Amino acid sequence: MGPPFSPHSPQAHSIAAVFLLVLVIAAVVFLVVAAGVFYSSLRYRSRGPAATEPRQIFGSRKLEVLWTVVPLAILTGLFIVTGRAMVVIDAPQDSSRPPDIVITGRQWWWEARYPTGVVAVTATGDIHIPASRRLLALVQSWDVIHDFWAPDLARKIDAVPGLAAYIWLEADTPGIYPGTCSEFCGAQHAWMRFRVIAEPEADFEAWLTRQAQPSPEPTGIAAEGARLFRKKKCSDCHSVRGIDVTRKEGPSLAHLASRETLGGGISQNTPENLTLWLTNPQAAKPGNRMPDTPLTTDERRTLLMYLESLL
Ligand code: CUA
Repeated sequence: MGPPFSPHSPQAHSIAAVFLLVLVIAAVVFLVVAAGVFYSSLRYRSRGPAATEPRQIFGSRKLEVLWTVVPLAILTGLFIVTGRAMVVIDAPQDSSRPPDIVITGRQWWWEARYPTGVVAVTATGDIHIPASRRLLALVQSWDVIHDFWAPDLARKIDAVPGLAAYIWLEADTPGIYPGTCSEFCGAQHAWMRFRVIAEPEADFEAWLTRQAQPSPEPTGIAAEGARLFRKKKCSDCHSVRGIDVTRKEGPSLAHLASRETLGGGISQNTPENLTLWLTNPQAAKPGNRMPDTPLTTDERRTLLMYLESLL
């Protein structure tokens, strides 16, 4: 079953527990009210012009007390349960401790930075984390308000420009957990997907180390493509190194060839779809910030060879 019934972290378990409790209480209240309405509409239905008016009741202390005390008890109980869950769910909102991962929402893709250990930057929509370790994630925005939400793992958190927000990011077992932007942020809000990939610690460390390393030196046509990449100013907006600390306008293309999807999940990473980005970026993902760059068919092919070499 979908979220919130497939929690995979202590935080998500707490959220699911509160959700289920509220659901059960609401269901009981609904059933009691619905039964009352059903009973009354049968018992006191119109019995024709000859029927006399039923007995009229004005005020009842017993009822007044009952429908004040019962909701008060329910809300007080939920307040306490919610407060205790928030202790588990919410990360401290101060920057005294450096974050383990910095997640930036951008129109329309997610960037993940790993400032501790090996510094790596990814813009793949795949956010790798070590399984069974609680990470302090700093969630921020580059442009407009986004919202980072991986329902199986953590609460939603708004990414607000100029504001630092923190959440715990944790998965109790290795796996792939889908997520998406859940605050409307423009034309391609729907294609701001991501996956949190939780791996055993050693695999994660190996992945991180690989991300920080450059792709193999391009040869032949790919090397020609690398020159074209700079000449056509692609490199003004796109970094191809996994460790660039300067932020660029476009997503990093480091290790592009090893990615599964392009453009926040809008298409699979195939030569055809990559070519479409080179030919007509607005057709690949309407509204995105990538300008048209006039290229000949040969130039496109050469650039494609280079992009495909970025393993
Ligand atoms: Cu970013 Cu919606």
